[in-house]
Amino acid sequence: MSSAHYQALEPQTSDEDNEDIEQRRPKQQHLHHHYHLRNHSGSTTTACSLATPVMARKGRRRCLLPLVGGVLFFIAFCYLTLSVDTRLALGLGGGSDDSDDEGSHNDLDRNNFRPLNETVHICSESYEDRRLFMQDKPNSEYGQLPVIYFVTPTYPRREQIPELTRLAHTLLHVPRLHWLVADDQQKCNDFVDTLLNRFGIPFTHMVSPMPAKFRYADPAPRGVANRRAALQWLRQHNLTNGVLYFGDDDNTYDLRLFSEIRKTQRVSMFPVGLIADYAISGPVVRKGKVVAFLDSWVAGRRWPVDMAGFAVSLEYMAQYPNVNMPYKPGYEEDLFLRSINVRMDEIEPRGKNCTEILVWHTQTKSKKLGVVRLESKYLDDRSNLGALLRNLKLMGVASITETEVRTAQISKNGKAKPHSMILS
Ligand code: UGA
Ligand code: MN
Repeated sequence: MSSAHYQALEPQTSDEDNEDIEQRRPKQQHLHHHYHLRNHSGSTTTACSLATPVMARKGRRRCLLPLVGGVLFFIAFCYLTLSVDTRLALGLGGGSDDSDDEGSHNDLDRNNFRPLNETVHICSESYEDRRLFMQDKPNSEYGQLPVIYFVTPTYPRREQIPELTRLAHTLLHVPRLHWLVADDQQKCNDFVDTLLNRFGIPFTHMVSPMPAKFRYADPAPRGVANRRAALQWLRQHNLTNGVLYFGDDDNTYDLRLFSEIRKTQRVSMFPVGLIADYAISGPVVRKGKVVAFLDSWVAGRRWPVDMAGFAVSLEYMAQYPNVNMPYKPGYEEDLFLRSINVRMDEIEPRGKNCTEILVWHTQTKSKKLGVVRLESKYLDDRSNLGALLRNLKLMGVASITETEVRTAQISKNGKAKPHSMILS
């Protein structure tokens, strides 16, 4: 995630999964809070409501005693019977509250997620690898390497086709890869289908629009609905072999990244260049082990990493049916990693112990759609312009109009000419 967008963001609740996560905590905190109130003030007005003031006074005393007793009994019961995790969750202490105590926190996390239940709408799909040669070898020589499932969320805007084209030209060099392109829109875009088919890389093109209630939120959970659909697709295919990687459409990928992530056993991590204030985000490694993280936006995240900074083995992920990515802007990576119960001491640092940068968080400047004003009578085959402009429209790059904006300039010898002169 890019911290610049989320400077002062507090964890918010957004979707049902999140409500699941967040609602449990406030309830538990409430319990804790209530207990303190009682002990410090010695009275309460909320426990019993009685008809008259006298009755209320007497009633309160009568009502308080069993209640206080009950609370004390409950606390004693917790200490004796509940696990350290649960005691911590209830705010009752009784265990090391050190956040380095990962195991217990992670178990707690796992129980806070629900399995995904997304609708997967597939536009087109191909399992055939039509590439003949990759890097320095024929395709056939890559044999049985584990497949990389490269999940790319994408959305319609004028830069979409150029981004996907550029990314495809990187992926063309990567053997044993299945490209999951998940489009944040309602309808399948035929142009994207044709484009993906042309590359010869095995792919699945699906649509999974962001739920309407998030569309105009600021910040919005970008790329989440689509990544969730891709996770659902992986689940539906019962894949237990291969590696998952979330590769946004606008990042820059070094080809060495792919050989590094392919050997992921559980979860691998590596630095991402051009993230936020430090222009870097990634693990701190000592003696070959990840011990902490360098990232300018922590905000309580146990895993302050970018989406492009980790890969997960599908064999490992299959053990966690509650794998999830809640709609919580800024916290997608953290919550996803929590949902699969990652432990810091198990993380595999990649890229020469996280000294190399194999992926860059490049961002393409976005502009609004182009508008070309030209009379429709000139959009026939007397010139190239009809076909050219129709293609741009299909790609979502520019629109054609007969009325809005100024007439498009068509020039010759440095001078604008009337359309009739060139196109009739
Ligand atoms: C950063 C992270 O690198 C993303 O992985 C993370 O999802 C994002 O922050 C976030 O937390 O919002 P950033 O460059 O700021 O990414 O965001 P974008 O590149 O604009 O979007 C991330 C991905 O989601 C892209 O692949 C983009 O095509 C896709 N996206 C974006 C959508 O599918 N729908 C949208 O409305 C916007
Ligand atoms: Mn981006």
